[in-house]
Amino acid sequence: MTGKNPTRKSVFMSIKFKDDDPCWCGSGKMYCNCHKTFDQKIKKIRLLLHKVPGRNLIKTPEQIKRIKESAKINVAVLDYIQDVIKEGMTTAEIDRIVYDMTTKMGGIPAPLNYEGFPFSVCTSVNDQVCHGFPSDKVVLKSGDIINVDCSTILNGAYSDSSRMFCIGDVDPEVRRLVQITKECVELGFKAVKPWGFLGDMGQAVHDHAYKNGFTIVREIGGHGVGNEFHEDPWVGYHTKRGTDMLLAPGLMFTIEPMVNMGKEGIFITDENDWEVYTDDGLPSAQWEIQVLVTEEGAEIISW
Ligand code: MF3
Ligand code: CO
Repeated sequence: MTGKNPTRKSVFMSIKFKDDDPCWCGSGKMYCNCHKTFDQKIKKIRLLLHKVPGRNLIKTPEQIKRIKESAKINVAVLDYIQDVIKEGMTTAEIDRIVYDMTTKMGGIPAPLNYEGFPFSVCTSVNDQVCHGFPSDKVVLKSGDIINVDCSTILNGAYSDSSRMFCIGDVDPEVRRLVQITKECVELGFKAVKPWGFLGDMGQAVHDHAYKNGFTIVREIGGHGVGNEFHEDPWVGYHTKRGTDMLLAPGLMFTIEPMVNMGKEGIFITDENDWEVYTDDGLPSAQWEIQVLVTEEGAEIISW
C-alpha cells in the first residue's frame, strides 16, 4: 500500500545530492544548507542497523501545509460529532453527518470505498475493536462506549484521528478503560522525540495500559500517514524503548492503540470481513492522534 512505483522510489532514496543542488525536500534551499546533515545522521544510524525512514516518508513543508488543511476538516467533523452525539442516535446518522460535513468543506471521507470499505467513518461500539460499520440498526443507548474514527482527504493530503464517547450512564470500570486509553495516547505522544525511536512511544503506551490491568491488541496498529492513507511505518505498542523506526524530523504517523478490558485476542467477523471484535466480548477503547516529528519535538496534526 505504500509506494505505487517502487523502482522510482528506491532510485530517489539513494540519489546523491551535490552541495549546491536544490534540496530533495522541496524547500528551495541548497542541499548543503538543508537536509545534508540530516542525511548524514540517518546514514550513521542506519549503519548501526536501526530501521530508518526513507526520504519518501519525510514530509516536506508544502506537504505539511496541505495535510494541516486536511486535518482542519477532520478535527471540525469530530468536534461537531462530539457536540451532537447522544443516546438514541444511530451510527448511520453519524455516517451521514461525517459525509455531509466533510464534502461540504471540500474534502472526501477517506474510508469511503477504501479497499471496499462501504462507509464514510468507522463507528465501533463496546466490544467492537475497530472498523465498525455504521448502521441504522445500531441505536446508541445509555452505557455504551463508541469510537468514531474519521479520516479526510483534501487535495491529496490525508488526516486521520478518532475519539471515544461515553453515552449516558457508563459503568465506572468501562469509563476507566476509556480514560486510561486516552492517557496511553498522551504518554505515547510525550515519548515522541526527534532522533528517538518509535519503540519509545510503543513502550510508553504499553506500560500504562498493562499497569492498569488492561491489554493492547497486537495485530492492528497505527501507521504512517499524510501523502497516503496508510504509509510506513506500521505502529505497534508491543515494542521496546530504543527499538523500531528512527523518529527523524518530518516523519508523520498515528498513535492509535486499541486497549481491551479483558484479553488481547480479537477476531474479524465473517459477515463482512471488516468489523473487529474482542474474543472475550469485553469492551475495547481506542483514541487516535496524528503526529509529526519536528526538529524541536513533536506536533499533533489531527486529534
Ligand atoms: N481510520 C482507520 C485507521 O485508523 C482506517 C480504517 S480503514 C477503513 O487507520 F477503511 F476502515 F477506513
Ligand atoms: Co489510523
